Amino acid sequence: MSNNLLKGKRGIVFGALNDKSIAWKVAEKAVEQGATITLSNTPVAIRMGDTKALAEKLNTIIIPADATNVEDLKKVFEESMEALGGKIDFVLHSIGMSMNMRHNRSYDDLNYEFFDRTLNISAISFHKMIQIAKEMDAISEGGSVLALTHIAAQRTFTGYNDMADAKALLESIARSFGYVYGRDKGVRVNTISQSPTLTTAGQGIDGMNAFVDFAEKMSPLGNADAEECADYCIVMFSDLTRKVTMQNLFHDGGFSNMGLTQAVVDDYIEKK
Ligand code: NAI
Repeated sequence: MSNNLLKGKRGIVFGALNDKSIAWKVAEKAVEQGATITLSNTPVAIRMGDTKALAEKLNTIIIPADATNVEDLKKVFEESMEALGGKIDFVLHSIGMSMNMRHNRSYDDLNYEFFDRTLNISAISFHKMIQIAKEMDAISEGGSVLALTHIAAQRTFTGYNDMADAKALLESIARSFGYVYGRDKGVRVNTISQSPTLTTAGQGIDGMNAFVDFAEKMSPLGNADAEECADYCIVMFSDLTRKVTMQNLFHDGGFSNMGLTQAVVDDYIEKK
């Protein structure tokens, strides 16, 4: 259902790999709500994933970019403004990757080159994206920049590994740049902290299925899925949230404020 919440707005969506990706759902919903968008992902992801099919479906273009490369990011903003016919109103950073996780390196046996890459891809790329946009004055006043994060930034979750550190940095960048970009250009910067979700990146987390089950039982509203996350992103891109900035917004069915639910107690007693 469309309420035209993003009518006339121009956006860039980074990180749609396949139809499980949170960015995929955001791209679909943004267009449904009246926005025009461009897509971006790495050349490898574009070759191996389904991003081209999404671009065809939404009648838009994909601009290849490694989000750690400032020149690539500059191109994304330049080509997006050209293709969409003006400054950008919203940007989604939906990017995460840990080589340590991929290689099953535990937190007390990290490979530091991999660790650098985790931080660069999953967090510093957000700073690069915003800095280049600000330098180019590519985002309109009142524009909204969002990244996706996880509660492992605040509390320790087994198996979340070096991504926990990357998410803590990502959220800090949102606060720090939220101040600077808000002050100078009226642009807001936030993160949405999402429930565990069975996507390609999600499935890379050790013990993910158990975590999804536990979080479901620990959340009064149950886990939020990718579709629901996309709905929240749309509201954050819309003019209904004009004064929301520098926030880490939990979208997790209540998980972040729970201590213990009856559902978890019942499950524990049953298994004992
Ligand atoms: P996904 O695997 O569909 O998306 C991750 C994307 O990052 C892919 O499109 C991939 O190509 C892209 N990417 C990786 N390296 C890149 C680089 N160097 N430059 C540009 N793009 C690059 O998985 P998902 O779950 O949709 O992930 C999106 C975001 O949501 C990530 O930041 C993730 O950490 C976050 N998130 C995911 C949760 C989950 O349980 N799936 C929970 C909370 C947050």
